[in-house]
Amino acid sequence: MKNCIITGADSGIGYQAARQIAAKGYHVTLICRNEERAARAASSISEETGNQQVGYLLADLSSMAGVRRVAARYLSLHKELHVLINNAADFDLSVKKPAITDEGMEKQFATNVAAPYLISILMEDALRRSGRGRIINISSQGLCVYPFIKLDIHNLDGRKHYRPASTYYQNKLALLMASLYMREHMEGVRIQAVRVTNVKVDLSRYDRLPAIMKKAYAIKSKFSISPEAMARIYTVLATENGYTGFLYNEKGREVRANRSAYDKEMQKRLIEILKERTTEKLRERRE
Ligand SMILES: NC(=O)c1ccc[n+]([C@@H]2O[C@H](COP(=O)([O-])OP(=O)(O)OC[C@H]3O[C@@H](n4cnc5c(N)ncnc54)[C@H](OP(=O)(O)O)[C@@H]3O)[C@@H](O)[C@H]2O)c1
Repeated sequence: MKNCIITGADSGIGYQAARQIAAKGYHVTLICRNEERAARAASSISEETGNQQVGYLLADLSSMAGVRRVAARYLSLHKELHVLINNAADFDLSVKKPAITDEGMEKQFATNVAAPYLISILMEDALRRSGRGRIINISSQGLCVYPFIKLDIHNLDGRKHYRPASTYYQNKLALLMASLYMREHMEGVRIQAVRVTNVKVDLSRYDRLPAIMKKAYAIKSKFSISPEAMARIYTVLATENGYTGFLYNEKGREVRANRSAYDKEMQKRLIEILKERTTEKLRERRE
């Protein structure tokens, strides 16, 4: 039985991908932060697919200590990992200023970039042990609206200026850049990304938003595809062979990332920052 981890799999696209991959007979571990939702998701996936090998582990992915703990727990249970899907993301338009975690990191950057990077590094050996393990990182079609976007390396934590949407797109660009870097340097592991299009969201999850934004989401959802349809490309990359490119859209076609994502010098600088910010040493120094 092959093993798969999906983060943020208690709702939306992550949930549907977990269901589809479980239906293909994989042992699936959902990594979620809320126990009730995680347990409900795991049991309904098992019930629907008949696959009893669906479980969950808890972690708040904005905490690097949390990422380390969940990785250690997973590795105490499994020697090999075939697929890691870094799906969870923090995108809350109601946030007005950067939220700084106990570890001193901006929460969106921590969840959307540092956590996928750190868990990938922690799982590297288990991925390699499974043969050519796969990492799938999740990007956004919204980046196409900013074809000339560049990584603002001096404002990764939003302290110079902050808007949740622009920080999110900076995060998604950074994740693509880190993925491209790892794709080149992490031997024995296949690293790819999915460009998620406009996908229907569960509006009940957006209670905090002002009425006007809720209305905008309701209009947006009229033009969106279902999480189930979007999850199909996660599933294809996770379970099938023959997709050897880097970034895929919802139709399973390979697409180019933003031009600046391929800047190797910038990728290297980003990785140096990620390495520094996700090490235990730094955390201890802060404490
Ligand atoms: N929907 C779209 O139109 C769209 C467009 C472009 C890209 N995307 C990307 O597609 C992916 C899935 O999005 P979705 O639409 O399916 O969103 P979603 O339903 O809101 O799912 C996001 C998941 O991430 C989890 N999460 C957020 N912060 C977390 C944290 N600190 N620790 C642990 N889990 C955390 C959430 O957990 P909780 O349930 O606990 O909140 C939830 O399970 C994301 O990477 C998103 O950026 C979506």
